[in-house]
Amino acid sequence: MSSEHTQESPAEFLACDHDRLTDLFTRAVENMQNVDLALYEEFRKGLFRHIAIEEKIVFPFLKQHPSSPGQEVFDRLRRDHGAIVALLVPLPSASVVATLESVLGIHNGIEEGTDGVYSLLNSASSEESQQLMEDFHAAPEVPTHPLKPTDQVIEVTKRAVDRAGYVFIDQPDMAS
Ligand SMILES: [Fe+2]
Ligand SMILES: [Fe+2]
Repeated sequence: MSSEHTQESPAEFLACDHDRLTDLFTRAVENMQNVDLALYEEFRKGLFRHIAIEEKIVFPFLKQHPSSPGQEVFDRLRRDHGAIVALLVPLPSASVVATLESVLGIHNGIEEGTDGVYSLLNSASSEESQQLMEDFHAAPEVPTHPLKPTDQVIEVTKRAVDRAGYVFIDQPDMAS
């Protein structure tokens, strides 16, 4: 990220990343007859990295913090991540896009909510916050596999969505 973001807190950084990724996603799938796959790939890469930052840096940090929420909070968010990652495997059909939009909206709201994990980061000391920001910026890209034909993988994706307690939104497919 550019230098204008260096003053932000870890919670602000992560919420800002949600907004950036939502914007990329919205623009990529704006025309479902002709999804912008280059933008969609940028969105996927960013979201994989965002999830890795949460699972490898944020959750371990919060777990050893006095204000740590219970394990069930982390378990739930990890199940959500499992569903989100599974939705990033197939080519973006109308159903995949509608379900991803719904799951991401709920998941991001939980993380950013008043009692959410991001707000807990605000109780970090300034040294801890600085270290978190350094770790966020140093987090590597996550290697991605090419998108797979929807019909080959959609059953696995649906099971991951179901396991996380979400409903897979079936839509008539407009894409060829
Ligand atoms: Fe997350
Ligand atoms: Fe997040």
